[in-house]
Amino acid sequence: MRVFGSIRVPGDKSISHRALIFSALASGTSRITGILESADVHSTAGVLRSLGVTIPELSPAFSVTGVGRGGLVQPSRELDCGNSGTTTRLMAGVVAALPIRATFVGDASLSRRPMRRVARPLEAMGAKIELPETGGLPMTIQGGRLRDLEWNSEVASAQIKSAIILAALVSGARARVTEPVRSRDHTERMLAARGASIHVDENSVTIDASSPFRAADTAVPGDPSSASFFAALAALAGSGELRLEHVCVNETRVGFFRQLERMGARVSEENKRIEGGEQVADLVIAPSDLRGVSVDEEDVPSMIDELPLLACLATRAHGETAMTGAGELRVKESDRISAVIANLRAIGANAEELPDGMRIVGSNHPLRGRVTTHGDHRLAMAFGVLGAAAGNSIEIDDRDCVAVSYPGFWSDLAAAHSK
Ligand code: S3P
Repeated sequence: MRVFGSIRVPGDKSISHRALIFSALASGTSRITGILESADVHSTAGVLRSLGVTIPELSPAFSVTGVGRGGLVQPSRELDCGNSGTTTRLMAGVVAALPIRATFVGDASLSRRPMRRVARPLEAMGAKIELPETGGLPMTIQGGRLRDLEWNSEVASAQIKSAIILAALVSGARARVTEPVRSRDHTERMLAARGASIHVDENSVTIDASSPFRAADTAVPGDPSSASFFAALAALAGSGELRLEHVCVNETRVGFFRQLERMGARVSEENKRIEGGEQVADLVIAPSDLRGVSVDEEDVPSMIDELPLLACLATRAHGETAMTGAGELRVKESDRISAVIANLRAIGANAEELPDGMRIVGSNHPLRGRVTTHGDHRLAMAFGVLGAAAGNSIEIDDRDCVAVSYPGFWSDLAAAHSK
């Protein structure tokens, strides 16, 4: 397989959600360019509309006039978050801080995901939250004025951290959140760009009581998680090189590219610059012989969404790849540990499930068979890339689920390589 050309992946999903939410909460008009137009971001736009904000059709450039922190209104229907955990958890923080009663619902996958992790800190701040026995959706929140909070999160999660910070921002309370390992910091960066009193100290973030907050424009850079699929494609190729333009290279997001270099691939960063408070660069990736790597708890947050892809890549590396400290994978859009291992075995790879990770031994046997995605976009794309490698032939049961984060994935994949 040969790779060629350059790809500009769509806008970053995490930044896109936050650009909409922060623009909606500000008093004034914010311009958003380069937003990701995918199902998950449509879910956030839809929830904000249900809460009384005028969000235009998503397009490459548009403006949002915010209603101010206290301006969201009682919705007349359930808040449908679709497949999006980020929509649910971040908006839970917002609703908890307002005199609103709202029920969050989602698709079957989202309804199974754990919500106690956000409900507990928001209840400690004073919100009233009803959850089913399972701890998933539907989740009903009666919000109101909130108290200050100091919270030690058991898991490194930007969604938990952001829910608490948003609750404090909207309520005018002070909050400090500490995580075991620092998770992605887009919320902190966007708040700082909007004049908020937010302080980061190693793995802790503090937002002051009555923090200021103003409207600001956002230029959304390319999504490093989406770019990772093409970086892996290039690493697996027999020849050529691939240029990935305008990728967000925020250090809390680029763990996959670092591991790719450790595996032996050539990854170079060009035109590194800062845009809208985020580091952005063009990445050039060329193939090479890959070797296995080991990934542990400290490495996981900066590549949490890329671990299924790393597992796929590991099937083509010399030696063993081990991932541990990654139990969070079990509560993503699918149980990404058991689903990845079952699929790798189904196509003939040597893969073993661990309680909090996986172990894969690479080889150059052709991998063939059918993969079950469980509607999980990242599994579809990871196995799509593996299927493009020479000798492999992999059928994906549900190709359309990529619409959650990358609707144009299959055509970009086809354009970037030849067999
Ligand atoms: C996200 C945080 C991560 C990530 C998700 C997006 C965000 O989840 O897996 O795709 O935008 O904050 P956790 O924070 O729960 O790990």
